[in-house]
Amino acid sequence: MTSPWADRDVLTGSQYRTDANLEARRSIYAFGRPWVDLPGVVLDLARLNGTETVADIGCGNGAYLAELDRRGHRGSVVGIDMSAGMLAAARGAVPGAAVLRGDAGRLPLADACADLTLAPHMLYHVPDPMTAVAELRRVTRSGGCWWS
Ligand SMILES: C[S@@+](CC[C@H](N)C(=O)[O-])C[C@H]1O[C@@H](n2cnc3c(N)ncnc32)[C@H](O)[C@@H]1O
Repeated sequence: MTSPWADRDVLTGSQYRTDANLEARRSIYAFGRPWVDLPGVVLDLARLNGTETVADIGCGNGAYLAELDRRGHRGSVVGIDMSAGMLAAARGAVPGAAVLRGDAGRLPLADACADLTLAPHMLYHVPDPMTAVAELRRVTRSGGCWWS
């Protein structure tokens, strides 16, 4: 039996039908001291020059897409998520963002298309994480970076 954490119907139909549950959990972290701006920290570590192609897998409501936008990132950016509700929220957060519905286990992306592939806080939802990791590697160009 698939764990509820990795059950596609539970994830898309309940837990991530909208971004309300994610935002509720995120609101708790706002009390952490020191407060950590996770998308900011991750993107700082990536040392982007602003022209890279970035793929954000399990992009949720677009926290990383929004941070890239805020930084004026000029390269292509695509967010992928299997929940239509989360993609709608991502579009609301970053109007004009390129977002696609897709599964981390079978990404709708070409080989080696991304300089940076992000998959933050999502691999624990994938029934077969090794397949998803292979997909992250497949879509990341040689010399690029993937992060989860
Ligand atoms: C905890 S949220 C993290 C969202 C975002 N990465 C962040 O850090 O703010 C997990 C997201 O992964 C998505 N997700 C779960 N399993 C997925 C899969 N197999 N393929 C694509 N997206 C998936 C969910 O719909 C949800 O939006």
